[in-house]
Amino acid sequence: MSLSQVLPEVPPVERAPDAAWADEVRALAERRNAVVLAHNYQVPAIQDVAHHVGDSLALSRIAAAADAETIVFCGVHFMAETAKILAPDKTVLIPDARAGCSLADSITADQLRAWKAEHPGAVVVSYVNTTAAVKAETDVCCTSSNAVEVVESIPADREVLFLPDQFLGAHVRRITGRENMRIWAGECHVHAGISGPALTAKVEADPDAELFVHPECGCATSALYLAGAGAVPAERVKILSTGGMLDAARETHATSVLVATEIGMLHQLRRAAPEVDFRAVNDRASCRYMKMITPEALLRSLREGTDEVHVDPELAARGRAAVQRMIEIGRPGGGE
Ligand code: 13P
Ligand code: SF4
Repeated sequence: MSLSQVLPEVPPVERAPDAAWADEVRALAERRNAVVLAHNYQVPAIQDVAHHVGDSLALSRIAAAADAETIVFCGVHFMAETAKILAPDKTVLIPDARAGCSLADSITADQLRAWKAEHPGAVVVSYVNTTAAVKAETDVCCTSSNAVEVVESIPADREVLFLPDQFLGAHVRRITGRENMRIWAGECHVHAGISGPALTAKVEADPDAELFVHPECGCATSALYLAGAGAVPAERVKILSTGGMLDAARETHATSVLVATEIGMLHQLRRAAPEVDFRAVNDRASCRYMKMITPEALLRSLREGTDEVHVDPELAARGRAAVQRMIEIGRPGGGE
């Protein structure tokens, strides 16, 4: 008997998500033996109902270790693909397969093959925000949590091709001081839109605030410039992944924090430190792809088993070592 035959008929949802919606999501997840994962940029209702909420690296690690038969990934497509690469025997669902990523779209496998041909012998480091086809051409993947450690794990005399995010690449080059690192000129439209002038204006209005800045942001360099110029004490400027922002929120003594990343992040930050005033540097920085995962879509996914994520087994096999290396590097107690 198929799962859809044993699941009850449920009428379409016409109400705003509430406690009954959350109960239904949890009950359907239990019947499917599914674990629901949500990225920090998801809408608050999805974050609150998920079994686990986190950044790209934490969610990849949870997917790799999951006991459940089904992983329901409330995030964007490359994240669900990464889960499928790490857990090929599981059913991986994304509530709306149209949830793409402008950054992942900024390089194709053909473009990467051509770039590699120009630099034979270089080590390819791909941000996790890439398609499975690009991962299949990659030596090691990274996320914003461990990009510095990943690049540092590569022998200093080997040239590095870093892709696709130019702002994260510039951050890694700044921290590692690595000169033999070439950086692809891609960007995320949401983070690139959080500009230096917007950050400067917010700092002028709130000079005592701390700054939490995601390294994909167009303003990451401006944040460091403000620190270098003395406009903000250097210890108050923190370039962090979304998971790193949560750790910093739990430790901060600041009364206000300016947050430069996608605005979904504010929900977890406010939960982690309710006494702190977290404010977006750009309150229009919302990722339309992340927001395609609606409460209704999550319920439909659990009822109907949609949208199932498939990765060509040959591509998955070629990308798996790069993704596995990503989840090992920077693991607490994991060595590198
Ligand atoms: P992290 O959550 O890993 O910091 O990534 C941010 C992001 O842009 C995901 O799309
Ligand atoms: Fe992609 Fe940017 Fe959206 Fe993250 S915020 S999923 S990098 S488009």
